[in-house]
Amino acid sequence: MENQPVITKMSARQQSEICQSCHKGSNQFFWHGGVHETRGLSCVSCHSVHAFKSEKAQLKEKTGAAPEEIVVAIETLLTKERPLAGKRALVTSGPTREAIDPVRYISNHSSGKQGHAIAAALARLGAEVTLVSGPVGVADPAGVRVVKIDSADEMLAACLKAGAVDVAVCAAAVADWKAAKPASAKIKKKPGAAPPALELAPNPDILATLSRPGPKRPVLVVGFAAETENLVANAIDKRTRKGCDWIIANDVSTAAGTFGGERNTVHLISAEGVEDWPTMAKDDVALRLAGRIALQLARPRRVVAAE
Ligand code: PMT
Repeated sequence: MENQPVITKMSARQQSEICQSCHKGSNQFFWHGGVHETRGLSCVSCHSVHAFKSEKAQLKEKTGAAPEEIVVAIETLLTKERPLAGKRALVTSGPTREAIDPVRYISNHSSGKQGHAIAAALARLGAEVTLVSGPVGVADPAGVRVVKIDSADEMLAACLKAGAVDVAVCAAAVADWKAAKPASAKIKKKPGAAPPALELAPNPDILATLSRPGPKRPVLVVGFAAETENLVANAIDKRTRKGCDWIIANDVSTAAGTFGGERNTVHLISAEGVEDWPTMAKDDVALRLAGRIALQLARPRRVVAAE
């Protein structure tokens, strides 16, 4: 059963929707049943694995089943309504690295798990997703265009280059500061000398830039707030300062284990108020958020008449 080709009965439209990586339709895919992260179907053209995280549990139950049963299960799952079809999304994820010299940098503990899960969830609901990611160890989500960057300056440039989107979700942990004058050669440790002073300069604020009013502003801009104290109060203040529509507040104190962990406890803060979500797997936070985004984008937009 492992890596066996299976023939699907999908229509050409469904096939090309599934194979968002190469945009080629095919009625032959390879079934991977054993490795939990790659369980699903891989396209014969681009070899991308097409499996959707929340379907894992259902697919797991089918790993012992006959190929026809697996195909029917996957077809059923893939033909579900895709409420974000036709919408474009931008997601930032992971940390940034700010060079001090060619061998040292300033960064943080973000693993990219939460941001990547959000990109995957938006794609699963049918959005065309660009994921701008700092250096992470997690795999690129299937069906998502991934742009890899190191620094905050590069992340901003990649976000602006992504063009007009309906929704932007800034889940990246962008370094607030960078070295004012990164050295072009390794800074040498001199015996007996004092440690070198590190002068810092502010990084551009990507979330605030994307939130600026104007014709190119996404319909919905979602930021995150990573706080170690006064979580909700600080996040409410951050939403106003940055000008985004929603802020997802999460506790990043060591005890909470949010950085690099599998679960997250978040609060969705909007102009309407604060919603406390229960502790969930990061994949489930991502799916719930993607669902809320789909609902919000489906709402009729308020047209403000010109004076
Ligand atoms: O990656 P994981 O290990 O899964 O962890 C997930 C996470 C904790 C990184 C994620 O859930 C999270 O909280 N991301 C935002 C981290 C952060 O930088 O928070 P902040 O409160 O410092 O920044 C507020 C917002 O402004 C964020 O949306 C951030 O992307 C954005 N920002 C910050 C600074 C800057 N120069 N530019 C920005 O766009």
